[in-house]
Amino acid sequence: MMERTSDGPEIFTPRQPDWVSPATRPADPAQANDYDSFAEAYSAETENSLLNAYLARPAILALAGDVAGRRILDAGCGSGPLSAALRDRGAVVTGVDAGAGMLALARRRLGDDADLHVADLRDPLPFADGTFDDVVASLVLHYLEDWGPTLAEMRRVLRPGGQLIASVSHPFVDHLCQSPPRPSYFATTSNTDEWTFGGRSFPMVFWRRPLQAMTGAFTAAGFRLAVISEPQVDPAAREVFPDDFDDVSTKLSFLCFVVEVPPSAAAGSDG
Ligand SMILES: C[S@@+](CC[C@H](N)C(=O)[O-])C[C@H]1O[C@@H](n2cnc3c(N)ncnc32)[C@H](O)[C@@H]1O
Repeated sequence: MMERTSDGPEIFTPRQPDWVSPATRPADPAQANDYDSFAEAYSAETENSLLNAYLARPAILALAGDVAGRRILDAGCGSGPLSAALRDRGAVVTGVDAGAGMLALARRRLGDDADLHVADLRDPLPFADGTFDDVVASLVLHYLEDWGPTLAEMRRVLRPGGQLIASVSHPFVDHLCQSPPRPSYFATTSNTDEWTFGGRSFPMVFWRRPLQAMTGAFTAAGFRLAVISEPQVDPAAREVFPDDFDDVSTKLSFLCFVVEVPPSAAAGSDG
């Protein structure tokens, strides 16, 4: 892992995987975020990594609590590690992802009968109103410029009283890691990283927005904020990653939300 550059306090200088670096040139939006080009490599790198296996995934699982018997939509499921963990805990999981290649890996992991669909979260979801008890969205919302249509759809497919559990890259960290002159903290802006696998670089465009834009988007979509958390790394990681543990366990990485559909709300209304 390497340290990301920031001129802010040390807590805002996160450790990054070695395959992540700031972009050296602007990204062509048509070629950015092409997960299918590096699906196998990304899935292998993140399967047991400190930031994914010991921080991002356990954070969502802890917030989800007892999922036995719950119908859960894994939005942006990738190769399905979170779907598998939820299913192991007794949930009935449906996965969607924009990448057919990522979903092929999810199918390999979860089996031929897994309920997986290619779907772009910017478009309407292919499910009826109130289909799910929970939606999980792990490290995917920060790829979207406009959260409004996506959150409206997530709310529509949740039953009244259902919840969305989401994790995103922490906006304070992302703000301070932008090269000066950095845009206003209060603006929603894109930034580009390069991910390198097998000697090839892939542009990745992320949308950073202030915390208040995130909370505002949830409430505008009719959700109630239940939890905002800054997850910490699983203590079990100390033994596996002795060199990086202290650093990662004392710095900000992700921000998580649990937001609820009001119990009496009819899908699509403003309850
Ligand atoms: C960082 S990976 C996270 C995968 C998985 N949620 C996890 O935590 O392991 C982001 C995933 O989001 C998917 N994704 C990005 N933009 C998307 C969009 N607009 N609609 C659906 N999926 C998208 C990518 O294809 C990728 O599989």
